[in-house]
Amino acid sequence: MTSIDSHDARALAESLRRVYDAVAERVTEENATSPLAAMVTGHLGRPVGEVVVVEEKFRLFEHAALQLAADAYLRAHSPGAEWFGVVGADRRWESLINMVTHAMKSGGVLLGRPDYAVASVGPDDTTDVIQLGMVCTRAPDGSPVVMAVSNREDYTKYALLTVLATERAAAAAVREEIGRLKDELDPLRGQVVSFGFSEHRENELLTFIPRAGLTPEEVVLPEGRLEAVEEHVVGIGRQADRLREAGQHLRRGLLLYGPPGTGKTHTVRYLIGRRPESTAILMTAEGMTKIDFAVALARRLQPSIVVIEDVDLIAEDRSQYETSPLLFALLDAMDGVAGDADVTFLLTTNRVAALEAALLQRPGRIDLAVEVPLPDAAARDRLVRLYARNRPIKADVAAVVAATEGVTASYIKELLRRVVLTALQTGEHALTDDHFTTVLTRMTGDGESLTRALLGGAPAQPRVKARLEPPAC
Ligand SMILES: Nc1ncnc2c1ncn2[C@@H]1O[C@H](COP(=O)(O)OP(=O)(O)O)[C@@H](O)[C@H]1O
Ligand SMILES: [Mg+2]
Repeated sequence: MTSIDSHDARALAESLRRVYDAVAERVTEENATSPLAAMVTGHLGRPVGEVVVVEEKFRLFEHAALQLAADAYLRAHSPGAEWFGVVGADRRWESLINMVTHAMKSGGVLLGRPDYAVASVGPDDTTDVIQLGMVCTRAPDGSPVVMAVSNREDYTKYALLTVLATERAAAAAVREEIGRLKDELDPLRGQVVSFGFSEHRENELLTFIPRAGLTPEEVVLPEGRLEAVEEHVVGIGRQADRLREAGQHLRRGLLLYGPPGTGKTHTVRYLIGRRPESTAILMTAEGMTKIDFAVALARRLQPSIVVIEDVDLIAEDRSQYETSPLLFALLDAMDGVAGDADVTFLLTTNRVAALEAALLQRPGRIDLAVEVPLPDAAARDRLVRLYARNRPIKADVAAVVAATEGVTASYIKELLRRVVLTALQTGEHALTDDHFTTVLTRMTGDGESLTRALLGGAPAQPRVKARLEPPAC
């Protein structure tokens, strides 16, 4: 498995530093007539053979951050500088220096407008990013540099920053400042993103998701339980600095377990909403193979929450191994986060037994395990009223509660949707006993046994109708 540091090291190693003295040899008297080559040498004041090249590759999803950093850099060092591109077939070159080399050799390569694409920087926000463009600017020491940004998705698996300068130190300083600005301006910070991975593109795929704003009233758990999990995730974060000073660790792991449809995912969404400043990374099954990378991202974008839903599915994937390699990768990644990092791991499972052995073998990753049970009578009462939304209930709620023993919260949610639909169909505003009886009878009937199983309903309750009807005299 690749460790986080070795990834960073590799990224650094990939930052090629090459002096293209060979380029000069290719220049001949008769073909050194290229607008591109003339522009580069004109700005730098050197023949191409003396130009220093620094390149750095970024993940495709970092392109927007790279662009924001490049724009901020230009504002600071050469306000008003304009990006330009090249026109025609010469755009096929993957990197600027290759293009310049080509221009020197064969002449031509006309300057034109840069190519733009659109990248997401939030659930509803995009920004223009340069797909192939360059700009004349200055290094922090004032010396001339040409900077290029390219993201040739058709050919390459990365976004590329190229800096052409007269001195190596100047080029490196530009690259470092861009790196710093990129971290500072990272559009992922404070966002909720789903983290996947495409084998085909060999790249992480990040999708922005709107942050839910659920209120405590909308999450129906046994008395005190929501407060306990919120305290663990949000409360500790709120006191982060003081806890650090007091030598206490911040990294935390929370496991929510219970039957399907009881509100584990709902609670996760609530918690993410309660920490609006946090970066939340929701792992998808495809993304799990890159868990170390996702956790590195979480560390960089603190405070952050890493969500691994239905972690029993990962634990189960044992293939030829005794224990699931993905689960161990997860536990390793959790362990790799320093104690003073404000990173919360939120795990959910329907089958805690499938996990227990692995978690017990590697203690210290999960410091709070909370059961999210089937709703008891009081909870079902609250759920019926919650999911009636603002419709008045003119029905015997106690009878509905009694008739729904053993069902899940999501079952009650669906029940209420159907009751409201029935009320709409009968043209009534309030929800009545008749509406509840009609729907409960249908939902508990033979025809809906699969629905019931899917929604986590209790075994059929044939007496529902009788219970909801007024006693016969
Ligand atoms: N405890 C609950 N309180 C309020 N609504 C709930 C609760 N549990 C489930 N729901 C509703 O049912 C939906 C499905 O529940 P979900 O959180 O996905 O269940 P789980 O993750 O435990 O399988 C939720 O989106 C929510 O609307
Ligand atoms: Mg769930």
